[in-house]
Amino acid sequence: MANGTYKSKGNFSYKSLEALQEDIDKLDLGLKLSSNFDVFKNKITIGEHTIPNALATHPMEGGDSDSIGSPTDLTTRKYENMAKGGSGLIWIEAVSISEEGRSNDKQLWLKEDNWQEFKKLNDLIKASAKEAFGDDFEPITIIQLNHSGRYCKVNGKPNPIIATHKKPLDDRLGITEDYETVTDEYLDELIEKFIVAARLSKKAGFDGVDVKACHGYLLGELLSAYNREGKYGGSFENRTKIIKDIVQRIKEDQDCQGLLIAARLNVYDALPYPHGFGVSKDGSLDVDLEEPKKLIQMLSEEGVKLISLTMGNPYFIPHINKPYDMGKYTPEEEVIFSCNRLIEKVGTLQKAFPDVHLVGVGYSWFRQLAPYVAAGSLENNMCRIVGFGRESISYPDFAKDILDKGEMVSNKVCISCSKCSEMKAKIGTCGCVIRDADVYMPIYKAMNQ
Ligand SMILES: Cc1cc2nc3c(=O)[nH]c(=O)nc-3n(C[C@H](O)[C@H](O)[C@H](O)COP(=O)(O)O)c2cc1C
Ligand code: SF4
Repeated sequence: MANGTYKSKGNFSYKSLEALQEDIDKLDLGLKLSSNFDVFKNKITIGEHTIPNALATHPMEGGDSDSIGSPTDLTTRKYENMAKGGSGLIWIEAVSISEEGRSNDKQLWLKEDNWQEFKKLNDLIKASAKEAFGDDFEPITIIQLNHSGRYCKVNGKPNPIIATHKKPLDDRLGITEDYETVTDEYLDELIEKFIVAARLSKKAGFDGVDVKACHGYLLGELLSAYNREGKYGGSFENRTKIIKDIVQRIKEDQDCQGLLIAARLNVYDALPYPHGFGVSKDGSLDVDLEEPKKLIQMLSEEGVKLISLTMGNPYFIPHINKPYDMGKYTPEEEVIFSCNRLIEKVGTLQKAFPDVHLVGVGYSWFRQLAPYVAAGSLENNMCRIVGFGRESISYPDFAKDILDKGEMVSNKVCISCSKCSEMKAKIGTCGCVIRDADVYMPIYKAMNQ
């Protein structure tokens, strides 16, 4: 059935696996279901690092740093909960590599002055996991390095730093045609800032760094800078040059030796050409994986063997990025199609790149049925690791429940209500308002007063 023509009963309403399978068949979706939860016990070895199981927490920006960008009690509490939750891969949220590149004044920011605070955070994650699961259990930690680009804010006010104009996004932000794009010199210097942050990440003890290029942030925006002039725009090689240069420099850097280099990449922006990456050039919004494949190939050749894939722009079209039941608008397409796009396309790419370990996304909406969808993906080689985003803040011990009890329980799951996203957009600080209500409901209520 064509995407968008199917109308479900509304919010997530699957009472059983059979009902979900019925819709998968009826709608001819690529989702696979399996009850073989042994696949979550798969260990993944990349170089000298071993991820002890096939479950990951996706990065979730909490906007809860102190004034100089260091983790606070709220930050450490979140990661302690995740560490005790049993995921083999803990992908730390977006951390800014520069002051002007922050998404808000409470975004984590790693620098020479505070790397010890990040070391404490990493030590806490490792120690908490060991305390919960024994000395042999050590989750792999990846820190996501980012520049927020057009979504930078200073003193609570937008301060867009753009690589190229994109009319649909510019209009939303009030960016006029004469607004200046960053210079090539700025981008040259940015490479150095990523390297400094990677060195500090290594000193702080993280196992790896994520050179983030997704969700409309600066490096993600450059992927579709078709109309930008100079060495960072135009051709595929130019648009991906900054990522390649950063990866090569980290690889060569003496102070970064042993760091696992990872990336979180958008493989579909859902914006029409020339504004979006991974989109057909015929003006439609059809997915076109030709360039994402070239990008993964290039990164793989550079030694990047752990890649988390994602889609969309959370500020513009959030349903593509995090399929929801309740949100700012009602999408044209049913939620299950949005999940299917994320899961199936990652599957296509995993099959095309057997030597790269892809982290899949799009599972939180399936609530207590998510482990079956996730097991189906792993069993069918549609990703090597399954990542959970919202679930990791609503239900941080989802991995433990899946591995020990063989289930995710319905009264702990994320209900995809978008309240955490609403908080992130309005005040920066966010968490799960529903399942972590003691802490976040008061903040949510105060925000809406
Ligand atoms: C409040 C919030 C914060 C997020 N922060 C980040 C982030 O820091 N970095 C990132 O790559 N993705 C971020 N995401 C996206 C998630 O990592 C994930 O891709 C998305 O929620 C879809 O996965 P899910 O369906 O399991 O939630 C965020 C999502 C939400 C809702
Ligand atoms: S507030 Fe909690 S339940 Fe609602 S979408 Fe966010 S994580 Fe899920």
